Amino acid sequence: MKRIAGTGLLTAAALALMVALPAQAGSHGGGKAMKAGADAEVQQLATEAKQIVKGFFTELKGTLVGAMKKDGPAGAVDVCAKKAHEITLRHNRDGWEVGRTALKLRNPNNAPDAWEKAVLEEFEQKIAAGADPKKLAKAEIVEQDGRKVFRFMKAIPTGKPCLTCHGDKVDPALLQKIRSYYPDDQATGFTLGQLRGAFTLSKPLN
Ligand code: HEC
Repeated sequence: MKRIAGTGLLTAAALALMVALPAQAGSHGGGKAMKAGADAEVQQLATEAKQIVKGFFTELKGTLVGAMKKDGPAGAVDVCAKKAHEITLRHNRDGWEVGRTALKLRNPNNAPDAWEKAVLEEFEQKIAAGADPKKLAKAEIVEQDGRKVFRFMKAIPTGKPCLTCHGDKVDPALLQKIRSYYPDDQATGFTLGQLRGAFTLSKPLN
């Protein structure tokens, strides 16, 4: 996804309305009406974001599984490399910008910005402390360049089918194919259940 400059993120951190989903959602409410209103807005946007992630994930996964069946892993690398971006763009609508990011990247275009990097690190810490990566998400309204922006991330755990191309025993010929597209690939060596990356969504609010 296109990166948004990190300016204003410090202010954002100070002003931020933080909601760790779903467990703590609303748990720090009970205070002022304004805060409750903002919490409700974050909740509503997070629900919308989760719907978008669902559609995006279903299409990516369907495309990947279909290509694996039809053309095998090497053919699927071609399909991913060519179609992932196009699929991503198709899920940008109603002001939403959609993407995927990770700490260990395959495609450098998916590099995290400062906010995303901090959230990925937070996910890693939570997983290390025993959290289920399938349930990790973060929703926050931040201020960026004088605008309020809703930002959302949802963790992507490494599943079994992912290991073919992201695991610690990737077939050498397949690895060579992957590196022909992504010479700086860092996205191998993952084991089952580890954090592979995250979906990342943003929507300007004013
Ligand atoms: C056939 C090989 C293949 C398989 C299987 C595969 N991936 Fe990937 N993955 C790729 C390629 C190629 C890219 C870079 C192109 C793109 O953006 O999708 C990529 C990129 C990604 C990214 C974007 C972040 C980055 O590093 O650029 C994530 C997140 C990701 N894969 C997660 C997964 C998960 C989760 C699974 C299992 C459900 C999976 N992948 C299965 C080949 C694969």
